[in-house]
Amino acid sequence: MFELNGKVAVVTGASSGLGKDAALAYAKAGANLVLLARRKEKLDEVAKEAKALGVDAVTYQVDVTNEDMVKEAIEQAAKHYGHLDILLNNAGVAVRGGVDSLSVEDWDKSMDVNVKGIFLVSKYVVKEMMKQQYGKIVNIASINAVIADKSDTFIRHGYNASKAAVLGLTKGMAASYGKYNITVNAIGPGLFESEMTENTLFKSDEFLTMYNSLNPMNRPGKRGELNGTILYFSSDASSYVTGQFVIVDGGMNIV
Ligand SMILES: NC(=O)c1ccc[n+]([C@@H]2O[C@H](COP(=O)([O-])OP(=O)(O)OC[C@H]3O[C@@H](n4cnc5c(N)ncnc54)[C@H](O)[C@@H]3O)[C@@H](O)[C@H]2O)c1
Repeated sequence: MFELNGKVAVVTGASSGLGKDAALAYAKAGANLVLLARRKEKLDEVAKEAKALGVDAVTYQVDVTNEDMVKEAIEQAAKHYGHLDILLNNAGVAVRGGVDSLSVEDWDKSMDVNVKGIFLVSKYVVKEMMKQQYGKIVNIASINAVIADKSDTFIRHGYNASKAAVLGLTKGMAASYGKYNITVNAIGPGLFESEMTENTLFKSDEFLTMYNSLNPMNRPGKRGELNGTILYFSSDASSYVTGQFVIVDGGMNIV
C-alpha cells in the first residue's frame, strides 16, 4: 500500500530541510524524483544521494514564483519520465512581522512563495495528472495555518495568512480533481529542525520552553517524523482520502 515503485514524485524546495528528507523517503519507497529549488548544487547533492538508493532523479533550478521557469521544468520532467504521479508542494518561507510592521514586500513574499508557488507548480503538474487519471498532491501548510504565536518575538502574520490559504486551496483542488482520481491533501507540521528554524526558533530558549511546555509530547519533531504522513498521502494507502488536513505536531494543537 505504501510502496511507490515506478512512481514519479515532484518535490519543491527539495534542496534542504523537510523537502530533502521527503525526497529521500520517496526514493527509499522506490519513486523516481523530480527535484525543484533555487540552489542547483544542493539539489544535485540530493539527487546523488537518491540515485545511490537505486532510483532516477532529475533536478531543475526553479523559483516557484516564476511561471516560465515552473512551466519549462515540469514540461521537461513530464517528457523525461512520461508521467508525473506525486507532487509534494513543500517550498516555503517564514517571514517575520505583524501587520503593524510588515512591509508590503515581505507580505508579498509570504503569499508569493507559500501560495502562488503551490498554484503555479500544481497548474502544470495537475494537467499531466488529469491526462493519466491518477495523481497524489500533498501541500505542506503549517500548524500556523490554524494557531498563531502570542509572543511578539515570533510574530509572522504573512506566514499565518499564507498557510491558512493553503488549506483553502487544498480543498478547492480536492473538490475539482477527485473525478480524475487525483487526491489533494495538506499537512501541518509543528516545529521541526531545518534551515528555516535552526537559527531562529531552535536558537531561542524562550520559544523552545514555551513549545515543549504546551506540547503533549514535550518536544519538537525529529528529522524523518513527517515522512510517514507524507508517504501516506502520496501512496495508494490514501486512495479514498482527499481534501484533508493532518497536523503533525505531537498533539500541540489540541491543548
Ligand atoms: N521546519 C518547521 O518547523 C516547519 C513547520 C511548519 C511548516 N513548515 C513548512 O515546511 C516547508 C519546508 O520548510 P523547511 O522547514 O524544510 O525549511 P527550509 O528553509 O529548509 O526549506 C524550504 C525550502 O524551500 C525552498 N524555497 C524557498 N523559496 C523558494 C522559491 N521561491 N522557489 C523555490 N524554492 C524555494 C528553499 O530553498 C528550501 O529548499 C515550508 O513550506 C515550511 O513553511 C516547516
